[in-house]
Amino acid sequence: MMDFTDKVVLITGASSGIGAAAAIYFSKQSAKLSLVGRKENNLRKIALYCEKSKGNKPLAITADLTDDGDIKRVIDETIDHYGKLDVLVNNAGIIGMGGIKNTTMETYDNIMATNLRSVFHLTMLATPHLIATKGCIVNTSCIASKKPSTMSLCYNMSKAALDQFTKCIALELAPDGVRVNSINPGFVKTNLLKDIGLSEEQLELFIKNVVGNMPLKKAVESDEVAALIGFLASNNAKSITGSCYIVDGGSILR
Ligand SMILES: NC(=O)c1ccc[n+]([C@@H]2O[C@H](COP(=O)([O-])OP(=O)(O)OC[C@H]3O[C@@H](n4cnc5c(N)ncnc54)[C@H](OP(=O)(O)O)[C@@H]3O)[C@@H](O)[C@H]2O)c1
Repeated sequence: MMDFTDKVVLITGASSGIGAAAAIYFSKQSAKLSLVGRKENNLRKIALYCEKSKGNKPLAITADLTDDGDIKRVIDETIDHYGKLDVLVNNAGIIGMGGIKNTTMETYDNIMATNLRSVFHLTMLATPHLIATKGCIVNTSCIASKKPSTMSLCYNMSKAALDQFTKCIALELAPDGVRVNSINPGFVKTNLLKDIGLSEEQLELFIKNVVGNMPLKKAVESDEVAALIGFLASNNAKSITGSCYIVDGGSILR
């Protein structure tokens, strides 16, 4: 087990899926949490669950990370509340479908604003605080960063750029004692695919196909991904920086 007593952990996209699982994981390890999401009700539910598990009441910040003012508010409120930041988990993200023949510029802009620009901006504002604590960053990327697809061009591009971001800033911040890594999951059952325009039936079939193609024949679970985030954020990973950790049931092998 990892221990995050007195560590301040900021998690984006904590209102759902992998980020919610990460919030629960860190709360069980006694972390002081700052949780960010758009849907206030969902965020509150996760915050309450975390509070019940170890007694630390998370700071829940409702924010849209595509808004520069909200990004600044996330850092300001976290520092005002806790006085420091030890771990930044850049996890919020969206997917949009389409290749070069059928993607709109709106899809491109939305995906890049959420998956890349917000991460860049939030990390930029968090960096002085992370240097002060010799903290670390874990970015939620995807195997889509490494594996081309005809269906999700902008998403794959955003995650490929995110991996390069992870590596570049790992190199830049190493002399400051700040580690930076990413986790790159394969398919995990969350709300990510909810808005890609498939009916429930079509989505079920799509998921069945994806899972059927995974060598281990099972979707990755959010809890497993959360535990990997926790490991990379912990002192057990003190020599790991600039790495992109795949957790995908072997999907990338095909
Ligand atoms: N599921 C997979 O198969 C899979 C595989 C590889 C990588 N990933 C990555 O895992 C990360 C988490 O996704 P998930 O699968 O857990 O999906 P999810 O259940 O849809 O969760 C996405 C989270 O991101 C938040 N978010 C999205 N846009 C935001 C914005 N503009 N401002 C603030 N928060 C925003 C959502 O907040 P609200 O719900 O409150 O709006 C939600 O908490 C993403 O980066 C995704 O690319 C997922």
